Amino acid sequence: MKSFSLLCLSLLASTSSALPATSTSAAPAQSTACGTIVNDPDTYVFNASLAYECLTSVPFNPAVATRFLAYYNDTLQFQSTLAYLRNPPTSYQQPGVDLLLGLQNLQDGINNGIFPNQYEFEAALQTLLYATHDAHVNLFAGILSAFTFASPYDIVSLSIDGIQLPKVYFAFDLFESKYFTTYQPSAIKTINGVNATTYLMEFASKNSIGTLEKNADWNQLMLSAALDIQGYFDVFSGGATFYPGDTITTVLENGTTYTDNFQAVYNDPGPTGPLETGGDFYNFFVLGFYPASFNESDDSTGSSSVVPSATATATSTVVSSAAATPSNWNNTAYPDTPDVVQTDLGTYGGGYISGYFLNSTSISVLSIPSFDEYDAALNTFQSTISDFITRSKAAGLQKVVIDLQQNTGGQPLLAIDTFKQFFPNIDPFDGSRMRAHPSADVMGNTITGYFQSLNTTDEDYYALIGDEWVATDLINANTNQNFTSWAEFFGPHLYNGDNFTTVQRYNLSSILFDDAATNTNFSFAVYGYGANPAPANASPPWAAEDIVLLSDGICDSSCALFMEMMHHEAGVRVVAAGGLPTTGPMQAPSGSRGASDYDVSILDANIDFAQQILQSDNSPEQNFLPNRTTAMDVFVTYADINLRDQVRRNETIPLQFAYEAADCRIFYTPKTIYNYTALWQYTADAIWSTPSLCVQGSTGFATTGTNTTDFVGPSSSSAGARTNISDYLAALNSSSISSLTYLNDGLEDGFALQRYKNTVVTSCTIESAAACTGGTICDSGVCKLECVVGNAKCAGGQPCQARSNAGVSVGSQALLKGVCPVSNSKVTTKTSPGPLVD
Ligand SMILES: *[C@@H]1O[C@H](CO)[C@@H](O)[C@H](O)[C@H]1NC(C)=O
Ligand SMILES: *[C@@H]1O[C@H](CO)[C@@H](O)[C@H](O)[C@H]1NC(C)=O
Ligand SMILES: *[C@@H]1O[C@H](CO)[C@@H](O)[C@H](O)[C@H]1NC(C)=O
Ligand SMILES: *[C@@H]1O[C@H](CO)[C@@H](O)[C@H](O)[C@H]1NC(C)=O
Ligand SMILES: *[C@@H]1O[C@H](CO)[C@@H](O)[C@H](O)[C@H]1NC(C)=O
Ligand SMILES: *[C@@H]1O[C@H](CO)[C@@H](O)[C@H](O)[C@H]1NC(C)=O
Ligand SMILES: *[C@@H]1O[C@H](CO)[C@@H](O)[C@H](O)[C@H]1NC(C)=O
Ligand SMILES: *[C@@H]1O[C@H](CO)[C@@H](O)[C@H](O)[C@H]1NC(C)=O
Ligand SMILES: *[C@@H]1O[C@H](CO)[C@@H](O)[C@H](O)[C@H]1NC(C)=O
Ligand SMILES: *[C@@H]1O[C@H](CO)[C@@H](O)[C@H](O)[C@H]1NC(C)=O
Ligand SMILES: *[C@@H]1O[C@H](CO)[C@@H](O)[C@H](O)[C@H]1NC(C)=O
Ligand SMILES: *[C@@H]1O[C@H](CO)[C@@H](O)[C@H](O)[C@H]1NC(C)=O
Repeated sequence: MKSFSLLCLSLLASTSSALPATSTSAAPAQSTACGTIVNDPDTYVFNASLAYECLTSVPFNPAVATRFLAYYNDTLQFQSTLAYLRNPPTSYQQPGVDLLLGLQNLQDGINNGIFPNQYEFEAALQTLLYATHDAHVNLFAGILSAFTFASPYDIVSLSIDGIQLPKVYFAFDLFESKYFTTYQPSAIKTINGVNATTYLMEFASKNSIGTLEKNADWNQLMLSAALDIQGYFDVFSGGATFYPGDTITTVLENGTTYTDNFQAVYNDPGPTGPLETGGDFYNFFVLGFYPASFNESDDSTGSSSVVPSATATATSTVVSSAAATPSNWNNTAYPDTPDVVQTDLGTYGGGYISGYFLNSTSISVLSIPSFDEYDAALNTFQSTISDFITRSKAAGLQKVVIDLQQNTGGQPLLAIDTFKQFFPNIDPFDGSRMRAHPSADVMGNTITGYFQSLNTTDEDYYALIGDEWVATDLINANTNQNFTSWAEFFGPHLYNGDNFTTVQRYNLSSILFDDAATNTNFSFAVYGYGANPAPANASPPWAAEDIVLLSDGICDSSCALFMEMMHHEAGVRVVAAGGLPTTGPMQAPSGSRGASDYDVSILDANIDFAQQILQSDNSPEQNFLPNRTTAMDVFVTYADINLRDQVRRNETIPLQFAYEAADCRIFYTPKTIYNYTALWQYTADAIWSTPSLCVQGSTGFATTGTNTTDFVGPSSSSAGARTNISDYLAALNSSSISSLTYLNDGLEDGFALQRYKNTVVTSCTIESAAACTGGTICDSGVCKLECVVGNAKCAGGQPCQARSNAGVSVGSQALLKGVCPVSNSKVTTKTSPGPLVD
């Protein structure tokens, strides 16, 4: 039995009344589905219907929801794309949306009593946020963060020969048939009575998150080795947000029928206390309160029993840091012996980069599934890229394929660094700008003003360099000099009916800026600038035409930035793989092309910091926004917005709204889907020798270099379409919520429940692991919260770091357990300037 069980059993022993004392009157018969799930010692995977019973048993509290919407409305004023989402150019391939109007519709819905429970409210709010199709807009909060849903089977979308349109198959059929060699699997014809393509497109449009077109939405449903190695689930089998129904019935083309339950994965947040009812679930997941009977000392007893001893086995909770360093991905799609490999590569490790020499065709392959690195791994990432280039050149390899499948970004400066190692002769533009609205102006004036008053020997000076609200450390794209004041940066400039700041560029020559921007304790300097100069007249190791980028469209944020530089500025060609079962072009950088993925807790801290400065100056502007601490009584694990748009030189439309076709699109085939050697060769052939491998009608749409940006796009099925949240809300049955007033609204004075914390930082050693409290476990010398890798996020938006196999599978993939990283960033190690780094 897993060690987790001991913890839950010890908690069950202390179960008592869980609701606050005020919770007496008129409570309806209460489902204990939530307790059944949370207290199950044996698994994290349940029937979807049980999770749905739990979710819909959670009462709705209009006062809390109203306060949260007000806070969130203030937050979304900082989202850079509001006007373009409302009124997108035809090149934008998703329906537009009026985000602020949608929030107002939700508020009207609250006022009109249409939400029968918390689930319907959160589902409506997430539906609105997903309509941004912006991977930089996330809200991990409330009861929806407790579960994701899963089909019991993974699926793949394959073209038999790379030319015919793809069909959807069960992944188990792919594997059992040895990739269609021992028998020919039958494709899926219908799901729950609906044409499979139609069903899956609908599923994708609801649940796929943050991509700019339906091809990438579709790919998010499919099993992918590049996702497997990161420990995450595809959206169809493990990553779905909304309840998909009780059962799934699939009919294959040959008539075979499968019927199974949809599943739910519980994103165990660590000890919840003795949680039983929907009300308890509300208090914990929405408000962040432990039940009244929660006893932290019981809990630490529980946690010490789950910590592995020095004799830990492979199935225990934590893998010893002394475990052998992996040197491959241990996944059949990737060759077993990389020619170049980053230290600590592996699902349980911190490395991402590997390189493969296809000597017989003189192709060198660089695999970059992520740019999400911190601290020492920033430097090993950088040096592995350098090693890859040196050794590929030494081996005389003529061409390069860079595989970016499933790369959802990470550190922009790593993307720039990697680009500079390939093109040291190009100074990439990397221009970006904010939405210029009154609150932003107050913050920038205040914080930039404070920064300018500091002596360079002051610790705050170093803490504030790289802060979004300090303008004078950034370069004005028009003058190529630092901005001299916030006002010079702020503008505003009116485009598409909204105000924007002047375009900024990063000050990459400044080592202070580099360090601050990577939020690292290690010194990191971008290659080709300042402290890490390229040799004079350094030339690119390969010509642009000898490099190709491969992507499945799931290329977000720093990955999209990398592609922008490689493709647009250097002229490297791009191959996009997969997508809907249709011909025609496909975009590759379909994740967020925004420039700044901004953590809302950092926004809160900056607002608070500005308010404190204004208070001490007795400024009339000190209440420019409501106090964020008191306005916010909902517990948010992680929320982010896109703070800055990326714009090209001399352009005004954010790059997110352009049409960025790949040079060629290919379909996955049975031979390439789980054999990346074959996929890389296929990609290379499509570009350099056999253009007929490109999907019909997929070429000739790409723009590059000095071509004008495509703000027209091909004719889009979504052109002119709008997501209207009021239509969605109208479909909800209205229902009385008066019986739910027993719920504590979280604001009463003397509400003395303990607050859940997910950022405990205490040192520990494996030997004295009992020192960890609050349900944390000892990991590399630090007490950390456990988490489920799946699709959960930790505070700060960092993913759960895989440590072990949870012993249960979802579809064909093992569910991994891990820990939330807490110790790596400046946020927890620098103390100055107070609230900014709170
Ligand atoms: C959001 O804020 C704007 C401007 O402050 C205000 O006009 C609007 O009513 C607010 N909407 C909601 C839902 O709070
Ligand atoms: C239909 O296809 C499935 C999946 O490929 C296979 O397992 C099954 O044996 C086939 N049934 C018939 C009657 O051919
Ligand atoms: C689903 O419908 C589309 C047309 O909308 C059709 O082309 C396709 O063949 C159908 N797929 C299946 C599996 O029946
Ligand atoms: C490699 O993968 C196999 C199958 O998924 C698994 O059984 C094995 O434990 C893995 N090996 C390592 C070293 O992780
Ligand atoms: C490719 O060639 C390099 C150097 O020429 C050699 O080190 C490497 O082992 C070869 N790789 C394979 C897979 O043959
Ligand atoms: C900054 O502080 C140092 C040390 O306290 C002092 O020598 C220097 O004159 C100060 N510089 C300015 C510009 O105030
Ligand atoms: C320009 O910004 C950099 C940091 O990005 C800073 O080190 C430098 O001092 C600034 N220059 C001026 C003239 O303010
Ligand atoms: C843009 O800013 C100007 C100057 O502050 C202001 O007068 C105008 O109302 C703003 N326009 C919009 C759409 O916010
Ligand atoms: C906001 O409210 C909190 C809690 O009442 C308080 O500690 C904090 O100082 C307030 N912040 C400001 C800037 O007034
Ligand atoms: C773009 O702007 C730069 C200055 O930033 C200017 O030198 C150049 O001529 C402009 N190019 C075009 C095509 O307008
Ligand atoms: C993968 O594909 C390559 C190239 O087509 C082939 O040589 C190799 O045998 C395949 N690997 C496996 C495990 O099938
Ligand atoms: C873009 O530029 C390339 C050459 O750089 C050219 O071959 C291509 O036709 C251009 N495409 C468009 C749409 O103008």
